[in-house]
Amino acid sequence: MLGRLNHVAIAVPDLAAASAVYAKTLEAEVSTPVDLYDHGVRVVFVHLPNTKIELLEPLGDDSPIARFLEKNPAGGMHHLCYEVADIIAARNHLLAQGARVLGDGEPKVGAHGRPVLFLHPKDFCGTLVELEQV
Ligand code: CO
Repeated sequence: MLGRLNHVAIAVPDLAAASAVYAKTLEAEVSTPVDLYDHGVRVVFVHLPNTKIELLEPLGDDSPIARFLEKNPAGGMHHLCYEVADIIAARNHLLAQGARVLGDGEPKVGAHGRPVLFLHPKDFCGTLVELEQV
């Protein structure tokens, strides 16, 4: 079911500062910021030869990553994103396996304009998992 690792996401308190760490200190290619109002986050992508790093900061008052940053004020690894060929088939398989899909269970449009879903971290080794249809 799982395809490639699409990205590793890191929640940060200050996206401009985090972008500078990746662009200047680590000399990586960093995208311009994108506001994802549906997800309550502002993101940039760091492009690596084999995958991407997504840097996230809260957008709006009820951002889902606000509580994460209260617990991890310096930032921290937030989720892994795996590619799937058919997100509805993947969701139905996971639900049949007893896994929990977050939200209303319907895919939302993610940072790359493609459908995404998030899976409960308690069902996946303590790690929040994003699935992206590619
Ligand atoms: Co992501």
